Amino acid sequence: MNKPLDPKVLQRAQVFSHYLKNTELRVDRMAEAQAERAGARVGVSRPHESAHLHVAGEAAYIDDLPELAGTLHCALGLSPVASGQLTGMSLNPVRAMPGVVAVITPEDIPGVNDCGSIIHDDPILCDGEIRYLGQPVFAVLARTRDAARRAAALAKDVLQIEAKTPVISPRQAHELGQYVLRPMHLARSTTEGGAQGAIARAPHRLKGSFSVGGQEQFYLEGQISYAIPKEDGGMHVYCSTQHPSEMQLLISHALHVPANHVHVECRRMGGGFGGKESQSGLFACVAAVAARRLRRPVKLRVDRDDDFMITGRRHCFWYDYEVGYDDQGKVLGAEISMISRAGHSADLSGPVMTRALCHFDNAYWLPDVSMHGYSGRTNTQSNTAFRGFGGPQGAIAIENILDSVARHLGKDPLDVRRINFYGKTENNVTPYGQTVDDNIIHELTAQLESESDYRSRRAEADAFNTSSPVLKRGIALTPLKFGISFNVKHFNQAGALVHVYADGSILVNHGGTEMGQGLNTKVAQVVAHELGVNFERVRCTATDTEKVANTSATAASTGADLNGKAAQDAARQIRERLATLAARLHGGRAEDVRFANDAVQVNGQELPFCSLITQAYLERVQLWSDGFYATPGLSWDRETMHGRPFFYYAYGAAVSEVLVDTLTGEWKLLRADILHDAGKSLNPAVDIGQIEGAFIQGMGWLTTEELVWHPTSGKLTTHAPSTYKIPTANDCPPVLHCQLYQGQNVHDSIHRSKAVGEPPLLLPFSVFFAIRDAVSAVGQHRVDPPLMAPATSESILRAITAVQAG
Ligand code: MTE
Ligand code: MOS
Repeated sequence: MNKPLDPKVLQRAQVFSHYLKNTELRVDRMAEAQAERAGARVGVSRPHESAHLHVAGEAAYIDDLPELAGTLHCALGLSPVASGQLTGMSLNPVRAMPGVVAVITPEDIPGVNDCGSIIHDDPILCDGEIRYLGQPVFAVLARTRDAARRAAALAKDVLQIEAKTPVISPRQAHELGQYVLRPMHLARSTTEGGAQGAIARAPHRLKGSFSVGGQEQFYLEGQISYAIPKEDGGMHVYCSTQHPSEMQLLISHALHVPANHVHVECRRMGGGFGGKESQSGLFACVAAVAARRLRRPVKLRVDRDDDFMITGRRHCFWYDYEVGYDDQGKVLGAEISMISRAGHSADLSGPVMTRALCHFDNAYWLPDVSMHGYSGRTNTQSNTAFRGFGGPQGAIAIENILDSVARHLGKDPLDVRRINFYGKTENNVTPYGQTVDDNIIHELTAQLESESDYRSRRAEADAFNTSSPVLKRGIALTPLKFGISFNVKHFNQAGALVHVYADGSILVNHGGTEMGQGLNTKVAQVVAHELGVNFERVRCTATDTEKVANTSATAASTGADLNGKAAQDAARQIRERLATLAARLHGGRAEDVRFANDAVQVNGQELPFCSLITQAYLERVQLWSDGFYATPGLSWDRETMHGRPFFYYAYGAAVSEVLVDTLTGEWKLLRADILHDAGKSLNPAVDIGQIEGAFIQGMGWLTTEELVWHPTSGKLTTHAPSTYKIPTANDCPPVLHCQLYQGQNVHDSIHRSKAVGEPPLLLPFSVFFAIRDAVSAVGQHRVDPPLMAPATSESILRAITAVQAG
């Protein structure tokens, strides 16, 4: 893989480096260069550790790995019916297809037929009950992928199914009381009678409904696993997954072997976005079961349409709410029911609903609140994690309410938002009992309001709208607060291994997975910083269950927080051993030895880092170490839904301005201004990339990405880019200002940085509410627009029609 780059590739690399230079314009290169000269390796913008490979097409994804001789290809036979009983299969025509070697059914699974991550209600292959259209029923193994797919496509003819009427909509599931887990309730009352009492006493009341759609992860690399049988019952699986340890456990249960027989490895994913947290399990298990049965390597790479049909995505949510508020728009009481489309099994729907309920408050003090969460069981794909993990669905509900309150009072929504903000010393306890002790939303919002010229642009938009009957401008500023940590306490742990080789080169391995977010880059920076060496010395390798055991999913944005701390712990131990040795050999005190810029300062002398390593090896000093980290201070009671589930909060805000064509429902994002809190950023360029990416991805969720299941057959009709529209480069606004908020985490996170993977997905709420603002301009801001998300052109036109009707 070290061949010289060809000119075409070089050209692409130049385009990429041009982009990087643009990013650099938005970071303070001068200050960073100065810090770097002084020895800092964190807080410095570095390209992604694999950027040069990404642009050259040389970064190996699982399908790029050389195939072993004898490799078989797998494809899944999918149910053509959404609900019913499987009464028989006539698999002979499938077996007779050219190139087919075997067909696998649940009887071939030596262990348990389940890949459920928390609740074990998720069959790998259909166990008799048909749960959704697209459910895998059997697996075909063939000599080529094409042959396997052609044979698997016969599923629609060879399955005998007694069909039942499917339940497709979560509303319907809710009416039937059909849930994947017990309904959740989270309430807090500060006055008599709780939420209902406060609502009844309030000067104004508002009752309504709202809904947001789901969202397909659309990772560029689809789900894939490559399983290779090893001696004595072992199994080595290359899997595109955010959670190798979970894959290891699921495979060990399916194969009925202990976990130490299963080895799962992932160098990188071509995107995960939550879709490979639990749902890589089915593919890993099928590949491993087939490899065991046939004693041959088996690769299962899912076609994009099948990926859509088999796997779940972001939960769509429906809301019924009632609020009471005062003349200023201050919320006094709120009650809300959230109904999600969980799909056919629990998967991560419980934790997603928990996070939704814990984010309904967003940045706001809600004195009396009562929330209910229902995860509706439907005959659809099992919905799962997607960037934000329910947080966006929870927070957008209160934003929608505050926007409506502002319309009813004839106020600027920003003013209503602001007077509801959490206080710094009072009115600062969340409904789940955690004190918001790091609140920066007031100053952050004020800075963005002024730097984006929000007030004068609002006045300009108003002036424009008075003289423009068809095109309407809208503008909105929305804030965010996002809790960082897994709600499940024991997930908040991580391990790392740091090896310093005798030549002074360094290898880092940790429990996190790389999905493009730059985790390895950040962890390598932390290690370089700790050992005072140049970046070039440090290399990260694949996530591997044989290196770091019992890892958590790389999820909940905690990757750098957890693994950064664990790697720092490992590196620090090595540094301390080196310092002791340096003082012993060269005099002085170990505490005074300094490591910076690839050199070691000891007792008035300076020696190259490499020389000290050579000495350490000769002196038989251990040059590798493990490291461990567990987030302190967390507690969570699942029954009462109270505690301190989050180590800290990340904040941010965005202003978006749109232009809506009220005759067609088409719209354009004219400009977006973002101010986001990444604490003391480990890598400003990578963080800005995460923020911009999340902004555009979230904008897609709230505007163009629409999922449509056929109401009677239950078939997902939007299962390819031809019918499902994700944003492209052309959808980026011509003006996109993205800035990091200058500050640092008041809590002891890795170098006082903050997690940045998911929180910015809430920034494009501003796009949705800017569209809502433009629609509201149609009725001179006197009618509250019933705009639902996604705000497709159809949805916008429906809202405009309603506003025009008054
Ligand atoms: N960025 C890229 N490029 N690709 C991804 O798949 N996943 C997001 C976010 N950013 C993702 C991404 C999600 S869902 C999470 S939880 C975080 O990255 C996980 O990584 P971290 O914890 O290291 O930030
Ligand atoms: Mo991210 S949804 O927590 O994988």
